[in-house]
Amino acid sequence: MGLDMARRKLIAGNWKMNGLQSARKQVQDLITLQGGEMLAKLDVLLCPPATLLADMVRDAGASGLHMGGQDCHAEDHGAHTGDIAASMLKDCGAAYVIVGHSERRADHGESSAEVKAKAEAALAAGLIAIVCVGETLHEREAGQAFSVVGGQVKGSVPDGATAENCVLAYEPVWAIGTGKVATTDDIAAMHGHIRELLDALGGTALVDARVLYGGSVKPGNASDIFALDNVDGGLIGGASLKAADFSAIIDATNGR
Ligand code: 13P
Repeated sequence: MGLDMARRKLIAGNWKMNGLQSARKQVQDLITLQGGEMLAKLDVLLCPPATLLADMVRDAGASGLHMGGQDCHAEDHGAHTGDIAASMLKDCGAAYVIVGHSERRADHGESSAEVKAKAEAALAAGLIAIVCVGETLHEREAGQAFSVVGGQVKGSVPDGATAENCVLAYEPVWAIGTGKVATTDDIAAMHGHIRELLDALGGTALVDARVLYGGSVKPGNASDIFALDNVDGGLIGGASLKAADFSAIIDATNGR
């Protein structure tokens, strides 16, 4: 990553299993709200359900707004009914894919080894992988947050990861969709920990890898979170569904 691009902020929206065709108007609303200037300074990404991805790539046009998938299979093709290959996401215009979201780790029993294989498939397809990690409330209360997240980082970061092709997202499970946000001290401590792990894992290749925070980021708390040293942006769930809220969160970076 060139010096000018080092740790350029990334604000990513994860729509999860939300959005019918009518939701596509949020793309135009967001472009209208943000104009070209902010989209040139930051990386802004929406990860809609797969059913909307190709249409929303077209809707985004040349605005600079990126689109991504929410998951991919570890294989490039084959007999995997219902699954989507990273190359298929790339083929319909995605630039990124989220892997290892806690909802997939919980709902589909995905292990870090599987997440790593998916991230490697993403890199092979030319996508940027957003690798999610995060502890549960039970693990935090048991004093295991650092060891759990550390194990997930070591187990899930793909071979060949660089600052250009891999992003980490720290999403404490207890903060997702709950309105409970981690304190800035807790976020700073965990992001510092993740950055040390990345340095140890990837050496110079991952020094500038971006680490996002996710979990109840809203227009009202985003600027405090984005001002933290090792926070390079956010992965936003609920508040990314409405262009006005997502736009306010983008504004909270102050273009830095
Ligand atoms: P919320 O912003 O709705 O808490 O979701 C966070 C998340 O899981 C993004 O991937």
